[in-house]
Amino acid sequence: MENMEKRKVMLSGIQPSGDLHLGNYLGAVKNWAARAEEFDCYYFMADMHTITVRQTPADLRRRTLEQLAQYIACGLDPEKNTLFIQSHVPEHAQLGWVLNCYTMFGELSRMTQFKDKSAKHKDNINGGLFTYPALMAADILLYHPEYIPVGEDQKQHCELTRDVAIRFNNIYGNVFTVPEPYIPKVGARIMSLSNPTSKMSKSDPNGCVFLLEKPEDIMRKFKRAVTDSDTENCVRYAPAEKPGVSNLMGIYSSVTGKSYADIESEFVGRGYGEFKPAVGEAVVEALRPIREESQRIIADKAYLQDVYRSGAEKAGRIASRTLRKVYKKIGFVER
Ligand code: TYM
Repeated sequence: MENMEKRKVMLSGIQPSGDLHLGNYLGAVKNWAARAEEFDCYYFMADMHTITVRQTPADLRRRTLEQLAQYIACGLDPEKNTLFIQSHVPEHAQLGWVLNCYTMFGELSRMTQFKDKSAKHKDNINGGLFTYPALMAADILLYHPEYIPVGEDQKQHCELTRDVAIRFNNIYGNVFTVPEPYIPKVGARIMSLSNPTSKMSKSDPNGCVFLLEKPEDIMRKFKRAVTDSDTENCVRYAPAEKPGVSNLMGIYSSVTGKSYADIESEFVGRGYGEFKPAVGEAVVEALRPIREESQRIIADKAYLQDVYRSGAEKAGRIASRTLRKVYKKIGFVER
């Protein structure tokens, strides 16, 4: 037990605002599964974050449970990882409010995700969208993680979390562990298959491969993937010059473990016409067991309920301890 207490912590979350896609998998979830032996791991469905953009309630509920099933199917064993739904642990909202008061307007104004989303949803630039990073800081700091395994696009939010933690610690002593983002070398920024200069995201479904998608649909998307209009028709890693081919190489490398040099020699003298379906097939094979296992788990609602209830209980124990300490430090009277 003593040792268990001392294990380092890892934590991350994904918004169930859409179905999980290849970017979420390669940038984040794939790197979570192998860590459970070494770290105390907490992974959650960030449902509270999703309502910064309007959601259809029934879809949000369904996707939250499907996301949990997919976490498990991706190898997150609920016996070894704490899997929970963010809104089940009220301390996230409670610490979120506190941290709002320690996060500066200027800092929040600089966040890329806020700028992107407020440009996309002009009719609903709400307060939550703006203060989102303070809630994300609370998600993280409640559990004292050393590392936050995320894709490249979350680096800025993780850095803000560090700044807020340091600011708070400077005033009140060592309350929070100052965490570090843990970003994979390959797969941290998967680009859209239809537009390789923008990030793969659910808002561009033609360029996005979903984890539960049918193999034939995945193959079609890869065969139609935009490759570069250079004349050399040669598989070579050069992200600035050849963003389309380089993105496909990143995906292939990430699912097969092959290096870029290996991939270049595998496809010497073979053009994009052969490379694209090969990447598609590798992805289909990597996702097949995940799809099959997810479908099996999704059907077992009672099991999912057990998992998220015990996850919330375990997460809640740690979270309430941290919140109590924070409340005490800032001068709230103990109940
Ligand atoms: P979200 O839900 O947008 O994305 C979830 C995870 O997937 C990664 N990701 C990608 N990685 C590579 N290529 C892509 N195209 C790609 N698209 C998404 C993201 O980097 C992320 O790791 N704010 C977070 C959710 C969150 C969170 C947290 C994360 C809330 N609280 C606390 C960590 C810790 C978000 O919107 O991620």
